[in-house]
Amino acid sequence: MENRKPVTTTKLKKMKQDGEAIAFLTAYDYPSAMLAEEAGVDGILVGDSLGNVVLGYDSTIPVTLEDMIHHTKAVTRGAKSAFVVTDLPFMTYHGSIDETLRNVGRVMREGLCKGIKLEGGAEIAHTVEACTQAGVPVMGHIGLTPQSVYQIGGYKVQGKDSKQMRKLLDDAKSLEEAGAFAVVLELVTEEVARMITSQLTIPTIGIGASVGCDGQILVYHDILQYGSGIRPKKFVKAYADIGSQIRSGIGQYVQEVKARKFPKEENVFKGDLEVMSYLYGGKE
Ligand code: KIV
Repeated sequence: MENRKPVTTTKLKKMKQDGEAIAFLTAYDYPSAMLAEEAGVDGILVGDSLGNVVLGYDSTIPVTLEDMIHHTKAVTRGAKSAFVVTDLPFMTYHGSIDETLRNVGRVMREGLCKGIKLEGGAEIAHTVEACTQAGVPVMGHIGLTPQSVYQIGGYKVQGKDSKQMRKLLDDAKSLEEAGAFAVVLELVTEEVARMITSQLTIPTIGIGASVGCDGQILVYHDILQYGSGIRPKKFVKAYADIGSQIRSGIGQYVQEVKARKFPKEENVFKGDLEVMSYLYGGKE
């Protein structure tokens, strides 16, 4: 979006107050960030879902700080006004506060993102507080937290009984008190999403958490069907089928190469002055 004012945490909070829905999307590289930006997203998350959708792992656990920094650099080059947040990957914020702040510092300084996201509730509130006191905007993430998938026992909907509901609400409030500027609610029931959203002053951003949140986030590759064998998920809507288009485009290219139909006359250089000038800037 040309000439749009950069989105800030203040703007995101104001959007909640005004009842204006917030659109986040994940992105992992320069072209996807540029396209998301041009399409008008408010925020981009360089999610550690990078591990699943880009790096080919079957969870987010193997993703490293170096992976996140590398991809964040590309995204921030492409997204000039969207608010870019980067996930701190598995076990990079569970050691000492010093170590956590060093990792956060690297992501912010090298990746040039505007904020970070940490998974967890009350148990990481002290870490969130340390980061926010150091001037780093922190987005919380509760409900289904993929970095704890082996502890949770699978990708299951959270907040189904009153005990879980109570815990999720307490977690959300602890994150708000610790200074988080927003909280992602992943795979929680609509009742939980609405209850938390109504009780927080900071925005809730839902994924598989109903329209009762202040905003939504989905994974780039899921909404565009960008990949091979992407499984349909109940909480995802596919807005395009880029995977099929890419496969068919590459298939045509392969066929034409094999049939010697590509390159064609118009793709070929001839040995005349025009070529020399194209290749060597006029010097022969
Ligand atoms: O890593 C990610 O993409 C996320 C979103 C699903 C919220 O954490």
